[in-house]
Amino acid sequence: MNVILFGAPGAGKGTQSSLMIERLGMKQISTGDLFRAAIKNQTDLGKKAQEYMDKGQLVPDSIVIGMVEEVLKGETKEFILDGFPRTVAQAQALDELLRKLGLSVGKAIFLEVPMEILMDRLTGRRVCKSCGAVYHVTSKPPKMAGVCDLCGGEVYQRNDDKAEVIGTRLKTYEEFTSPLKSFYKDAGKYVEVDGDRATESVYKDIERIVL
Ligand code: AP5
Repeated sequence: MNVILFGAPGAGKGTQSSLMIERLGMKQISTGDLFRAAIKNQTDLGKKAQEYMDKGQLVPDSIVIGMVEEVLKGETKEFILDGFPRTVAQAQALDELLRKLGLSVGKAIFLEVPMEILMDRLTGRRVCKSCGAVYHVTSKPPKMAGVCDLCGGEVYQRNDDKAEVIGTRLKTYEEFTSPLKSFYKDAGKYVEVDGDRATESVYKDIERIVL
């Protein structure tokens, strides 16, 4: 089943997607990762996206929707949409796009995590520059500080995980992304998972929904 994984910044979408890739053989389509790759390669798309991301704002819908369309074209594997849609306009565009491509999404899984926990997760998060593996300074540190356990790449703090940007990201989420709960409830696809538990417990619930 193709699914949407959504929730606030730091809710654990990337962490859960990694487990779904590894154990269920699904493909992750993360708009945040696609933008970060474009920024690394200094493409026009990357340069445009960076202006918004560094401030904690959303990249305009027109840019995001076009990018997702390119990725979804010809998709044959079961996929997880991580970080898309993020606005009601994106959700409506996704419905249209899926219809056009003859694809569908079975469930929109919402990871519920209280705000005070999100702050700690985001300020403490560290990410591998090469393979994207996700760490946390206290709950999941790499074995050697600054070095990825999986590929030996450099582990760094994302620009938008600085305290001054996190506040804007959380406000942006409340205003634009949280209305998606009603959107997917109305569509009969909404499922809520308590994301404030051990990673494995959260994963087990998601696996039950997906299988
Ligand atoms: P994006 O990369 O999508 O960021 P996000 O939604 O803010 O989500 P995060 O990656 O911050 O968090 P996550 O939920 O994946 O948490 P993670 O698993 O890493 O987007 C970045 C930016 O790109 C946006 O701000 C926007 O500018 C732009 N953008 C992207 N998509 C867009 C779109 N569709 N439209 C417009 N703009 C778009 O976990 C976080 C931390 O918590 C880690 O340290 C992890 O180890 C820890 N953790 C995870 N699970 C647990 C657990 N169960 N218990 C304890 N710790 C945990």
